[in-house]
Amino acid sequence: MQVAAGKHNPIALGGSMFTSHNPPMMAISIGLKRHSLEAIRGAGEFVVAFVSEQMTDDTLYFGSNSGRDEDKLAVRGTKTEPATKIDSVLLSDAVANFEYVVDGELLTNDHVIFAGRIVAWHENEDPAVQRLYNVGKKILRGVQFEPPRPGEDNR
Ligand SMILES: Cc1cc2nc3c(=O)[nH]c(=O)nc-3n(C[C@H](O)[C@H](O)[C@H](O)COP(=O)(O)O)c2cc1C
Repeated sequence: MQVAAGKHNPIALGGSMFTSHNPPMMAISIGLKRHSLEAIRGAGEFVVAFVSEQMTDDTLYFGSNSGRDEDKLAVRGTKTEPATKIDSVLLSDAVANFEYVVDGELLTNDHVIFAGRIVAWHENEDPAVQRLYNVGKKILRGVQFEPPRPGEDNR
């Protein structure tokens, strides 16, 4: 999720990966045609939300519609709260939210990999909440999950 012209725009991403313990960093991959690409470049910051099973419909919507055409969070009525260190929002029903400042990007043919430095993170207080994983063509499944501790070896 990232800030675009004052609007917060969620995109579904198949994955993210930790790339550094110290400082804690993570990478995401964004297609060249995505509205999110311009938005992240413009903002220089973004939030990654590890979405929960109850957010399945929202996630598929965020992954099938573009912020170029609409305010996806408003259309879905998704519950959000302000991020604490960057100008963005957290998804309140996610398992965990991570706030990032962009440290660098790498063009890999038709996607750009953004490496972000984690400046804050938040965990859902309900331990029963299940993290949603992408297991195929728009097939998502909930898995019991312990949020990672940025800065520790989570593998
Ligand atoms: C489960 C799922 C995983 C996806 N993973 C990625 C991804 O890793 N990178 C990407 O650029 N698009 C991915 N997409 C597609 C984008 O979410 C989709 O094109 C979205 O509508 C782009 O929104 P935007 O134009 O507001 O950025 C995924 C879609 C789904 C449903």
